[in-house]
Amino acid sequence: MNRVHIKTYGCQMNERDSEAVAAMLRSRGYRIVNSEDDCDILLLNTCSVRDAAEQKAIGKAGFVAHRKKKDPDFVLGILGCMAQNRGASLLDQLPDVDLIVGTQKFHQVPDYLDNLRAARDAGLPIGETIVDIAEEAGSQNTIKDHLAPEAGALGTDGELLAPQVNAFVSIQQGCNMDCAFCIVPKTRGDERSRPMDDIVAECRSLAARGVKEVTLLGQIVTSYGRRDYTHTDGISPFVQLLERVNAIDGIERIRFTSPHPRGFKDDLVQAYGRLEKLCEYVHLPMQSGSDRILKAMNRPYSRERYREIVESLRAVRPDMYFSTDIIVGFPGETDEEFEQTRELFEACNYDMAYIFKYSIRSGTPAADMGDQIPDSVKEHRNAVLLDILKKNSERRNAALLGTIEEVLVEGPDKTGQRFTGRTRGNRVCIFDAQARLIGQRVPLKIERSSVSTLYGELQLAGV
Ligand code: SAH
Ligand code: F3S
Repeated sequence: MNRVHIKTYGCQMNERDSEAVAAMLRSRGYRIVNSEDDCDILLLNTCSVRDAAEQKAIGKAGFVAHRKKKDPDFVLGILGCMAQNRGASLLDQLPDVDLIVGTQKFHQVPDYLDNLRAARDAGLPIGETIVDIAEEAGSQNTIKDHLAPEAGALGTDGELLAPQVNAFVSIQQGCNMDCAFCIVPKTRGDERSRPMDDIVAECRSLAARGVKEVTLLGQIVTSYGRRDYTHTDGISPFVQLLERVNAIDGIERIRFTSPHPRGFKDDLVQAYGRLEKLCEYVHLPMQSGSDRILKAMNRPYSRERYREIVESLRAVRPDMYFSTDIIVGFPGETDEEFEQTRELFEACNYDMAYIFKYSIRSGTPAADMGDQIPDSVKEHRNAVLLDILKKNSERRNAALLGTIEEVLVEGPDKTGQRFTGRTRGNRVCIFDAQARLIGQRVPLKIERSSVSTLYGELQLAGV
């Protein structure tokens, strides 16, 4: 009765937090299982960034709560951002939930589950819902070692082919930027950074177990360590961290997400020229191309400044890949203002973009702004940008045909028939290979592409 399934909604931070919870539970003797239908404990790690994400998790929780009628011992927990955002009020809609644990209390989940199990084993009914959404000093330091010993690429019979090639490393929790639309400062709390030495030690131990690519994670990574470390020779703590990770033997590629445009000072831009492991891919959230909307959003840069950052990065790395986040239909966004977004979006020639229709988040400043935009207008603006993105992506893919890209082989693809890996520009590739190549960087000749995937042939003798 200790089989746990964790279902994760939302961003990479959530994925990472779920991995950490799974690792803690495993070390307490719980079994982490892949099947939601075949578990004794179901934990939903939730997202609040848009209303749709919350509704999805609530719908799911309502649906699985019925299982408690048949099996009173079944445990249902809600973790993460929506737990933090809504707390005990979730019980109005979901009275059967056993556990509501916020974003600073993930490390308490094993204790709470142990307590629930002990009560049940003693024949006591599972009583009141446990609700813990308190703040906890130092909680950013609890999201660390996470990869299961057996994590890695699996073969068709579930056998371990090779250790995991890439890993997320949490460097920071929370955000203090207070963008007017964003619930994250509420759900994730104050910006708190992990000590640089701890992060470097974690990356070293990941490298020792075969990890080749790390993605440094945080809500606003470019602000990493700003309260804990000083600039040295004009180099920010974040870039100092990149330098130290770059120096670790065995780590071959470095990525990070998410930065803030404000963080792209000269030290970071130049880092792309001198840190050879830092991949030429950057996610640079633009949100809007209108100065008036940016200001209303409390985003401290102009469209000109944004454009300048893109150009300075392309000057250092002409082959730089860009992705972005855009919100369409922010309160008061006029057709002309959207047109400015469209124009800047087109000019930046993104390889990938996440385009969001503005979603009212109660408790954020934008929720109370007048002039909310009708859904049909948001829908139209969304479609316009998606169309541009599709064309960009097709153009970029067409330019890659016939070229040779460095691909880091990650493991079998979904079908188990071929292999998958990514280019330094973060493009997913599918190709024929052998398990012994997992974890290696190999040349791939690009032969075909779909909107999001490249297909090709490895350029190796004997493969
Ligand atoms: N720095 C964080 C941002 C989290 S939110 C990170 O990427 O990890 C991710 C994106 O969701 C934002 O960049 C923004 O484009 C979008 N978003 C945030 N709040 C939103 C809202 N209320 N409506 C629509 N999109 C939103
Ligand atoms: Fe949200 Fe803005 Fe921070 S998007 S996570 S408040 S930088």
